[in-house]
Amino acid sequence: PRKIIIDTDPGQDDAVAILLALASPEIDLLGITAVAGNVPLPLTEKNARIVCELAGRPDVRVFAGCDRPLSRPLVTAEHVHGKTGLDGPQMADPTMPLQDQHAVDFIIQTLREEPSGTVTLVPVGPLTNIATAFQRAPDIIARVREIVLMGGAYFAVGNITPAAEFNIYVDPEAAKIVFAAGVPLVVMPLDVTHKALTTRARIDAFRAMGTRVGDMVAAWTDFFERFDMAKYGSEGAPLHDPCTVAYLIDPSLFSGRLINVEIETGSELTLGMTVADWWGVTDRPKNALFIGDIDAEGFYALLAERLARL
Ligand code: BDR
Ligand code: CA
Repeated sequence: PRKIIIDTDPGQDDAVAILLALASPEIDLLGITAVAGNVPLPLTEKNARIVCELAGRPDVRVFAGCDRPLSRPLVTAEHVHGKTGLDGPQMADPTMPLQDQHAVDFIIQTLREEPSGTVTLVPVGPLTNIATAFQRAPDIIARVREIVLMGGAYFAVGNITPAAEFNIYVDPEAAKIVFAAGVPLVVMPLDVTHKALTTRARIDAFRAMGTRVGDMVAAWTDFFERFDMAKYGSEGAPLHDPCTVAYLIDPSLFSGRLINVEIETGSELTLGMTVADWWGVTDRPKNALFIGDIDAEGFYALLAERLARL
């Protein structure tokens, strides 16, 4: 199985990404690192533990990381995810422990201890933890197998500003460090996730599992949908973060191009924009496999089949 660390700010879609990883034998989840993003850190680390307990996996190690972006005040997204970050059904507080170690130290230690080229990082929130680890321990960069992240937008443009996607916008300086690191990078932008919509039939399929996990995922995606129906006018909401884990399980569901992607950190209007050279009009180095398309039916079939195992 593929060894991964999920770096996350749950978030209903983050929660589904974690569940998909825990349900999949192709994935060996070494740990979950929480970061401030959708909601402040005390809530994201708590939500990560709630999700592990829901999956019946209180043994998974959850670490709290950075509580604010590298050099900016934190921007949150309660307007999307609700006050708790995981609004929808009422959930009891978790009883499994939070690890004492800081998430950044866990990332550094894991990359140094595991054989080089075996650990994949899966960031589905702002990139603060990953960038901090790279800055503090540059020796680990060459040891990362791959980074598969959710973030950015190009043809689909932004969801937090007209130009920027939330994860990149919250900490553009961190994103710049990660995109320039030279690690093989796979990027799931809004262009893709907005093709992975939670239609009524797909939500019903989760509920039809007749399991606690199925009910929760249906309720979470319902919560999401209520919000996005008004905003995007589409039938369902984009289920962003699980696209990363699905890519690791079955990359044939996705297609994209290896291109140059740069992060805007200067302009006020386009701060956090992922400037993607899709047509190859520059000779800047190709640093990211920028995913452009998804087999949405195949993706939801995989999700339903896997989540039913929990
Ligand atoms: C991203 O922002 C968060 O709100 C979601 O969890 C996802 O990671 C989408 O822009
Ligand atoms: Ca997220």
